[in-house]
Amino acid sequence: MTSLDEPGVRTDAPATSFTLNGTPVTVRSDHPHLLAALREELDVTSPKDGCSPSGQCGCCTVLVDGKAIVSCQQPLEKVEGRDVVTLEGVPEAERQSFADAFAACGGLQCGFCIPGIVMRAKAQIDKKGAGLTREAMAPHLGAHLCRCTGYVKILDAIEAVAQGTACVPELSGQVGERGAKYEAAPLTLGERDYIDDIRVPGMLHAALRLTDHARADVTAIDTAAAAAADGVVAVFTAADIPGEHRVGLIHKDWPVMIPVGGRTSCAGDVLAVVVAETRDAARAAVELVDVGYDVHQPVTDPVAALAPGSPIAVWGTESNELSVSAYQRGDLDRALEASAFTVTETFETQRVEHAFLEPESTLAVPSDDADGRTLHVYSGGQGVWDDRNDIAAVLGVERERVTVELVANGGAFGGKEDMSNQAHAALAAWLLSRPVKCTLSREESFRMHAKRHPIRFEYTAGCDHDGKLTALRVRGIGDSGAYASVGMKVLERAAGHACGPYRWQAIDVETIAVRTNNLVCGAFRGFGANQAQFATEGVLDRLAELVGLSGWEIRKRNVIRAGDVWGPGQLMDDGATGAEVCLDSIRDTYEQAKASGKAVGLGLGLKNAGLGNGFREVCGAVVRFRSDTGRIEVRHGWTEMGQGVHTVALQVAAHELGVDPDRIDVVVDTTRELGFGQTTGSRGTLMTAGSVQQACAAALAAGCTPDVDHTGEHVVDWTQKLGDPGVTNPTIHSCFSYAAQLVIADRHTGAIERVVAVHDVGRAVNPMLVEGQIEGSVHMGLGYALSEEFPTDPDTGFPTNVTLRSLGILRAKDVPAIEVRIVEVPQPRSPFGIKGVGEIGLVPTAPAVAAALRDLDGEWRTRLPMRGGDET
Ligand code: FES
Ligand code: FES
Repeated sequence: MTSLDEPGVRTDAPATSFTLNGTPVTVRSDHPHLLAALREELDVTSPKDGCSPSGQCGCCTVLVDGKAIVSCQQPLEKVEGRDVVTLEGVPEAERQSFADAFAACGGLQCGFCIPGIVMRAKAQIDKKGAGLTREAMAPHLGAHLCRCTGYVKILDAIEAVAQGTACVPELSGQVGERGAKYEAAPLTLGERDYIDDIRVPGMLHAALRLTDHARADVTAIDTAAAAAADGVVAVFTAADIPGEHRVGLIHKDWPVMIPVGGRTSCAGDVLAVVVAETRDAARAAVELVDVGYDVHQPVTDPVAALAPGSPIAVWGTESNELSVSAYQRGDLDRALEASAFTVTETFETQRVEHAFLEPESTLAVPSDDADGRTLHVYSGGQGVWDDRNDIAAVLGVERERVTVELVANGGAFGGKEDMSNQAHAALAAWLLSRPVKCTLSREESFRMHAKRHPIRFEYTAGCDHDGKLTALRVRGIGDSGAYASVGMKVLERAAGHACGPYRWQAIDVETIAVRTNNLVCGAFRGFGANQAQFATEGVLDRLAELVGLSGWEIRKRNVIRAGDVWGPGQLMDDGATGAEVCLDSIRDTYEQAKASGKAVGLGLGLKNAGLGNGFREVCGAVVRFRSDTGRIEVRHGWTEMGQGVHTVALQVAAHELGVDPDRIDVVVDTTRELGFGQTTGSRGTLMTAGSVQQACAAALAAGCTPDVDHTGEHVVDWTQKLGDPGVTNPTIHSCFSYAAQLVIADRHTGAIERVVAVHDVGRAVNPMLVEGQIEGSVHMGLGYALSEEFPTDPDTGFPTNVTLRSLGILRAKDVPAIEVRIVEVPQPRSPFGIKGVGEIGLVPTAPAVAAALRDLDGEWRTRLPMRGGDET
């Protein structure tokens, strides 16, 4: 029996009793649902909380009397006397077969969704046994979301368990070899802690009071009622911040909290932090923080925001124009005039939510050391070094007093680059000298982290009689929301990639990032390249029709090759051969699909890997042989968010050292200076591989001396900034990856029945993980193309959809067959020839879908998404 005697918790509350994993338990009845009782009182953490209490992600699925149910929708009184089973209570042999199958099949990435899916699969296998096929299982995953995998390998794993297929997962010790993901088994079983699963003695819970208005002067914040509420320990406002009040990755313009006398700038602004003994108490008391406002009309139209006389949208700024990215090459007007065919078209893309399954969570633990106070922060962010620097600045202490430890997160896709609640948890812990955890609800998560930019493009493009591209003019306006984040870089990348992987005689591109009072927009897989190449590929297809060429042929005639000059003037190296190899690889399938009468669309794309643009990129790694444990520690600087960077580090180290990969532990924290910026831009694999390779070389040269740091570094310092004067052929990016995707639709049903994705990744360190990345990208790309959107109300700047289900993400049963083909054209000057795979993933998907739909019904598409959620 569990005890009800917890600090700050009423012990006279009514109780509910049930059987948990075969043992009778009694819990307080005042939990909002079964999931809260399991996680917060019974400390059973395999059921994850992705969206409670809305019941829309499936991560919290458990068995009640043998039936799979989402526990965040289950009132406690309904389980009185019943039999509840979580993954912890599944017989060991079954647990092992699920762990083996998911690891061997590559059925997980971040892993956050998997324990819930395993419980659903168990219920179905218990019922249907070996008769459970992937086709039969897919509809049952309708209650679940996976944002990483595209469900392909999840269904492989479930089918393997159902049919009793022997799976023997093994970590690989070779670069280029398929192998299990690092920590795959504990992730599958829900045993590898995410931050919200961590409990430390004396831990308090923080909840955030968000603004009621996107643009309003804050005239008063009354915290008295909240402070007096049951279980509340403290309430903090901006007045309690000892150091810097604003943080940010590039501009320090994002207020940690809006003070009295300040002005809110978007729906994600924070006004107060309530700290209490329990999460429920903190969240309840947040509602009692009384705020006075003088409300102003928000600026929500980016075009109007640029007009002379527009009010300034964002508090503390002087202009709504965040950035302008522009370049010209050749005589555009003359090239257009000489063109045999021209098209002019306007394209609009939508705001999109990342929908990573794990909402943001931070745990900050202070300690009193002999040489002063320190703070250890567990973060799931994409740049723990940036987190540390900003946290130290907010606290007004030296960086050395703050350590940030990465806890591999439950998905990010760019949405965890900016800090969300890290500073708030750190501030509360520092001021109270007690551990404080802050976990966002799904709605808070939606409001606080940056989204994919909606961008409006005007394109004019021309070609000659043979379909050779002549001229391209692009004007783009992107709604960057309130704070800078990396919005200027996203629009810069959109400008750079607006020419696609093609040769143009003349080009003139300008994109503007605009500040508004909408939600912040920033990094999201593809980083501006998706939006731009939806438009670029669209004009290419229109030109092809005018000339009378197929979609494949016009691309073949114009594809960029080694030695060609790419849009902004970059002289392409041998790595560029990958674009044409992808195109050639897909030709037969393209022709066969057309010949069979299917509606067919083709997209070709490129995406840089790394920051480029003149940044000196440095990445360190450490290899350490521990004499106390006999194990080998590999330390690197990157965030594991499902993409497999820990597995890359492990595989490279085992490969280089010639050791058993099972001996290796992978660690990321800020006690060693190994990081340089964010895990972003597909650079994690490339930079990690390079630095670990060097660290291994240093270790081998030193005879693998135990208990010392053998360090290695990978540096990319040969790029130049877009638009740098006096540089004729700037190397804007050190590396590009390429992909061609083919979308095949049935003419009778209109359904997309198959996607073929050919990706040049330079070198696939682990082909199984690469396939998983591409399958997940295609799933995300189909949603982007067809159904996903995260609109805001133009009158308020607040999101109009605040549930996961309303986002339009494709469910398992709606995902067509995805066929992945990996191409390896090595990148010069890159370790092992690696190019990267994460960012390019969905660049070609939306234009390929648009072309297939045009083939289907004769209509050109200019706006995303192209269909409603139910029509896919
Ligand atoms: S947490 Fe219960 S369904 Fe999402
Ligand atoms: S593995 Fe499914 S959400 Fe990440």
